[in-house]
Amino acid sequence: MEVYKIIGAKRLKGTIKVNGAKNSAVALIPASLLANSPVTIEGLPEILDVFTLKEILEELGAVVTFENGTMTIDPTNAVDIPLPNGNIKKLRASYYLMGVLLGKFKKAAIGLPGGCHLGPRPIDQHIKGFEALGATVSNEHGAIYLRTEGLVGSKIYLDVVSVGATINIMLAAVLANGRTIIENAAKEPEIIDVATLLSNMGANIKGAGTNVIRIDGVKELHGTKHTIIPDRIEAGTFMIMAAVAGDGVTIDNVIPFHVEALTAKLREMGVKVEEYEEKIFIPKTTHLQAVDVKTLVYPGFPTDLQQPFSVLMTQATGTSVITDSIYSARFKQIDELRRMNANGRVDGRTAIITGPMKLEAATVRASDLRAGAALVIAGLLAEGETEIQDIFHIERGYSSIIEKLQGLGADIRRVTVKEVEVNND
Ligand code: EPU
Repeated sequence: MEVYKIIGAKRLKGTIKVNGAKNSAVALIPASLLANSPVTIEGLPEILDVFTLKEILEELGAVVTFENGTMTIDPTNAVDIPLPNGNIKKLRASYYLMGVLLGKFKKAAIGLPGGCHLGPRPIDQHIKGFEALGATVSNEHGAIYLRTEGLVGSKIYLDVVSVGATINIMLAAVLANGRTIIENAAKEPEIIDVATLLSNMGANIKGAGTNVIRIDGVKELHGTKHTIIPDRIEAGTFMIMAAVAGDGVTIDNVIPFHVEALTAKLREMGVKVEEYEEKIFIPKTTHLQAVDVKTLVYPGFPTDLQQPFSVLMTQATGTSVITDSIYSARFKQIDELRRMNANGRVDGRTAIITGPMKLEAATVRASDLRAGAALVIAGLLAEGETEIQDIFHIERGYSSIIEKLQGLGADIRRVTVKEVEVNND
């Protein structure tokens, strides 16, 4: 099995570059299928989710090339093959193919999405949107079957502010007949990025980035060239790393406005954050003060940074409380951090962490993507050699993480070790 080995307690210094946004990439790639000529997307991260989506698009008959972060998707010969199983289940965001195939071919069969286990993650709001646009939807043997005579624009109020549902309805509505209005829409930068791509393909979308999005359906969409936005969660992860283990770190390719909620919390803890046009510099931090954090929809504090942030809390003086209002079970990192001598406990949707505690190396397991990122940060801090298992979770979302951290002076390696059988009786 492949693991990360980290020899910690080494200070990080230098510049680290952020890639294109994973959560944009996983929507932009399927969105390209809606065009009738090739779409080129630049700056894509080289992560497992992107490689898997490339394979799925190829299964659907698209011709895809991917080199140095640039993907060209020629959808001219794409067909509506049912995808109830296989690659589709490897990532949650494959649900975007529901909106795309429904809009393009009037039918889709998509296996229920995989992804990180963070508590229940229903897709009822996506389904509600498709039905409002005139689709019939059924769930058979773990796959969603969608069909329509022709989508017709409609007014849809989302009961839950959902990134996925907002994008998926947008994807279905761009080729629908007439006007769609999404109310109580999510406002994440990734939604604006997808709307920008679709608009450049010829779609008529207004209001992306606000809570009301209006889409006037068009007859067809054409190819275009698009550069993806930087990954604000990867940037935030590096900012947290810099705050806790850095001796002066520049985070390059970041839109400071996208990470405002994190910047505010870091400053509240005593971290100096210097913002430039596309860079953030974090000098060495000498004292961290405990703070409370509650995750909220954008522009609130992102749930995706809650797990990495919890490591920072182990180093702060006093008791910090972190509440995740988005997911009910996104604290699996806390048990692993406890193995590393952190003083933390979970009570429902809240984690309570008291610091500062000196972290110690241990063998730990990444239960999901951001828990994995949290453990990498903890490993960089801990005295001794930490081993992180199940690193495929981390590699779903962070590209070239080893090389990037080595560039800052970290002692981190990806190695193959023999699997040890655990008897759970
Ligand atoms: N929800 C519903 N019904 C729905 C959809 C969502 O009840 O139909 C609930 C969810 O259970 C959750 C909340 O609404 O409690 C927000 O879910 P949302 O739909 O916004 O999440 P998502 O689209 O499935 C995206 C990111 C996640 C990120 C969330 C929240 C992608 C591919 N994933 O998920 O990213 O945590 O938004 O910002 O864009 C990650 O990158 O580690 C990650 C998990």
